[in-house]
Amino acid sequence: MQIVLGIPGGIAAYKSADLARLLANDGHRVRCILTEAGARFITPLTLSSLTAEPCYGANPDQGEWRANPSIEHIELARWADLVAVVPATADVIGKAANGLATDLLTTVLLATRAPILWAPAMNTGMWGHPAVQANLERLRSFGHSVVDPDDGLLACGEEGSGKLAQVPAIAEAILMYGSPKLRSLDGRRVLITAGPTREDLDPVRTLTNRSTGTMGLELARAFRDAGARVQLVLGGDLPEPWGVETVRVRSAQEMLAACQSRWAAADGLVGAAAVADQRPETYAAEKVKKGEGPETMALVRTPDILATLSAARRPGQWMVGFAAESEKHLDHAAAKLQKKGLDAILVNDVQRGRAFGAQANTLTPITAEGPQASLGPLPKDLLARAVVQWWARRLESLDSGR
Ligand SMILES: Cc1cc2nc3c(=O)[nH]c(=O)nc-3n(C[C@H](O)[C@H](O)[C@H](O)COP(=O)(O)O)c2cc1C
Repeated sequence: MQIVLGIPGGIAAYKSADLARLLANDGHRVRCILTEAGARFITPLTLSSLTAEPCYGANPDQGEWRANPSIEHIELARWADLVAVVPATADVIGKAANGLATDLLTTVLLATRAPILWAPAMNTGMWGHPAVQANLERLRSFGHSVVDPDDGLLACGEEGSGKLAQVPAIAEAILMYGSPKLRSLDGRRVLITAGPTREDLDPVRTLTNRSTGTMGLELARAFRDAGARVQLVLGGDLPEPWGVETVRVRSAQEMLAACQSRWAAADGLVGAAAVADQRPETYAAEKVKKGEGPETMALVRTPDILATLSAARRPGQWMVGFAAESEKHLDHAAAKLQKKGLDAILVNDVQRGRAFGAQANTLTPITAEGPQASLGPLPKDLLARAVVQWWARRLESLDSGR
């Protein structure tokens, strides 16, 4: 992708260097535009070195506009697949919302037809000011996207909202807005479970499994990118994906409760979580002490989330599950499909540690018609997109057959 990264004069400008590096290392072309104030915080040399592209805009040697045979602002406006402004200052937000074109960046923002993404960062008082919020609302009304700032300790020493969103989250938002759309699932409401559950024995010990939640998170992103409204019920430690409503849970019981309260409003469910099948029978409020001789732990079954949701299903709701099997994986998965009343099950072969935490993976979908062509091997982000494409095609044919 070809990304124009506008860098105005905010204290978080140094983080844009990291963002530019991240995107460039990911194979994207990144051309930075510094405003005059931006150039006081970070240098063109840093940015052009990190991106292997020229840095445009304010330049201590050449000033804002250079004598150049090409018309730079039009060339950049056309070159961009997406223009991102990071960190977006109150000043440049205000200018763009009002159609001002006082420097290279604001002129490119007016001239481009590419999607525009803002990642604001500023003092809490500035962020909360109605003028800034009204300007952002105006930008949204032009179809621009905004990655809202986080809460936290700001450079000015104040605590509150206005801290630049995390660099990986901004990178993700850039890639999503700049990518051609996946097959459309616009408006579909999808509930996704992901990650391991943890069943506590006492305040320090827990029973869990080797799932990281990567595949479920990538699925949440891929459904989001296809236009679905995603609710993610997430166990484990991975960071929440951008643009997805996420609820964190710990145990299987918590995951079930979070799903139950959201299930009625969903069109479908993707159960990608690795839910513990058993939990310790009792929870000890104090750390269990070492005993003498052999010790045993009594286990009881955890609730079956897919089966419970399947029993509460209303007509038209679809359910896709996952199976991680270490032997006879297609047979076991086909049995699970039937037993839990799923529409499809995606089978991982977890033999020899494949699937859990691995970067590339293969999934075989099984439906009532039997095993379908395998998807992958692909890195999990692309595999998730392949799953969404496969399922969207299937939903289309199911819908047309209804
Ligand atoms: C040390 C310092 C830090 C600043 N940080 C911010 C900031 O985080 N966000 C912001 O909106 N403005 C910030 N400003 C104010 C902008 O630099 C100022 O409004 C400037 O005119 C912005 O110009 P630009 O938007 O064209 O880059 C800061 C100013 C200084 C001196």
